[in-house]
Amino acid sequence: MSAESAGREQRALVTVDNVTKAFRREDIDVQALRGASLTAAEGEFVALIGESGAGKSTLLNLIGGLEKADSGTIQVDGTEVTTLSDQELADYRRENIGYVFQSFHLLPALTVMENVMLPLAPLPLTKAEREERCLAAVEAARIAHRGSHLPSELSGGEQQRASIARALVNNPRLILADEPTGQLDATTGQQVIDLLRALVSERKCTVITASHDRTMAEMADRTVAMVNGEVIA
Ligand SMILES: Nc1ncnc2c1ncn2[C@@H]1O[C@H](COP(=O)(O)OP(=O)(O)OP(=O)(O)O)[C@@H](O)[C@H]1O
Ligand SMILES: [Mg+2]
Repeated sequence: MSAESAGREQRALVTVDNVTKAFRREDIDVQALRGASLTAAEGEFVALIGESGAGKSTLLNLIGGLEKADSGTIQVDGTEVTTLSDQELADYRRENIGYVFQSFHLLPALTVMENVMLPLAPLPLTKAEREERCLAAVEAARIAHRGSHLPSELSGGEQQRASIARALVNNPRLILADEPTGQLDATTGQQVIDLLRALVSERKCTVITASHDRTMAEMADRTVAMVNGEVIA
């Protein structure tokens, strides 16, 4: 745990309790989560580690409201995520969650700024307000200097910084990053980890990552291991 977070009162932003999730395909049930529990405090950087198939991505997807749990409870900043309707889930995601994916998920025909602006589309903002929010996000993600470029004109690390800017544009309390350094070399991956670390201290975001990257585990406040659908430590 960093000295900074050790000195701060640790209010839980995320509380996952005893969550199960199975996927059914052609009569085969895959039990992805078997009673997983996890907490993350406000302003904490948590790294989920564990073998492939342990359930890390599934757990992030449930916390982010991309999938629904079969049983158990998930509270994020006082909201019980498991009981939300589809419309409420969409609002919950937009207002609370910034998602960062291994493969960036940037739209290739749009510039960095246009990609970052996309999550603002449903909001009743003026053009000037949109631009101001985007500028703040690309500056926080250290990618403002490439705002007018297409994703294909950027390095992998720059593309990931652009996707982090897109995740930040709605000022989320919680950033969920699934293997954010999985497609990057060690040096570029380190820059992305440093950026996530900076967002925790500068913006007081809570970050939960799933990662096979040892550096991620070293930089996190806490490392949480998953084995076979359960959180073990
Ligand atoms: N949509 C799906 N349909 C069927 N099975 C799935 C689905 N998503 C995940 N699973 C299964 O659930 C289990 C947990 O998968 P999950 O993706 O959460 O693992 P992970 O820890 O993220 O692995 P990795 O490190 O490889 O990303 C695996 O056995 C996987 O095959
Ligand atoms: Mg995964």
